[in-house]
Amino acid sequence: MSKPSVLISRRWPASVEAKLQQHFHVTLNTEDRPLSAAEFKSALQHYDAICPTVTDTLSAEVLTVANKRCRILGNFGVGYNHIDIEAARSEGLIVTNTPGVLTESTADIAMTLLLMSARRGAEGDRLVRAGQWHGWCPTQMMSSDVTGATLGLIGFGRIAQAVARKAHHGFGMKILYTKPSPADPVIVADLQAEACSSVEELLTRCDYVSLHCPGGASTRHLINAERLKLMKPTAHLINTARGDVVDSQALVDALNKRQIAGAGLDVYEGEPEIHPGFRELENITLLPHLGSATIATRTAMGEKVLANLHAFFTGQELPDRVV
Ligand code: DGY
Repeated sequence: MSKPSVLISRRWPASVEAKLQQHFHVTLNTEDRPLSAAEFKSALQHYDAICPTVTDTLSAEVLTVANKRCRILGNFGVGYNHIDIEAARSEGLIVTNTPGVLTESTADIAMTLLLMSARRGAEGDRLVRAGQWHGWCPTQMMSSDVTGATLGLIGFGRIAQAVARKAHHGFGMKILYTKPSPADPVIVADLQAEACSSVEELLTRCDYVSLHCPGGASTRHLINAERLKLMKPTAHLINTARGDVVDSQALVDALNKRQIAGAGLDVYEGEPEIHPGFRELENITLLPHLGSATIATRTAMGEKVLANLHAFFTGQELPDRVV
């Protein structure tokens, strides 16, 4: 029997690309450039499986292309807001993702941003590189304490809980959270965490706010001008979730007016474009969507996609089926 044909939309760690090639007839994107909608449509007609990633937009228009051969989208990433899930469902396409393996690395990046924003790390780095550091003095670049401060988590899934563990057990932070459904009482007790009845309540009470809700229509601009006004003037906003959860213009305005003290972002509305106002601000730390970017995590993500494809093509239950 011939091997199923699989298209990988971007480069993956070499070890997983090699494993894929043992099991499937694989087409790699050797140039590692984003594929167009037309290329995805054609791929849907010519491959048994496509493995897109979180930067590939698979709209209803793309997914409803006629004469499809593809039966499964093995997404390289836990987030799938770039795939029109309803269209995939009605087209009979299976979608899988990669939960679990990127929890700790993404939580580490949230803590990196929190610490950098609080302690003005990026600003200090720029100062030193620019030859503008003239030596230590008692009032230089004073900043905010992290240890013992209050951290609010909007969303309380795996990544938020990992951030909470690091923050509470490592930095003695008090943890507040909002979650649509009740959280596991064992986890809540371990973290001595307190649920807030609303996002508004959480925003008013925290020194640091970290976003961990999924992207998409229901959370678009959840953090808007009105809600930013509720935050303390000393507070910092951290976003490692999805860019469109925050209204970028409202955040630029809030940071310019010093309505809040700082922000740390790993994700952006319309990335890799970023709001030009962000570049002008000193009180923001900007990372290029590094959440899961460790060798071990990216390898584990590839292995997860491989396991899902393997299960699909051997008729077993899919470990990470979304649809
Ligand atoms: C994901 O998997 O959704 C992440 O954003 C990639 O780091």
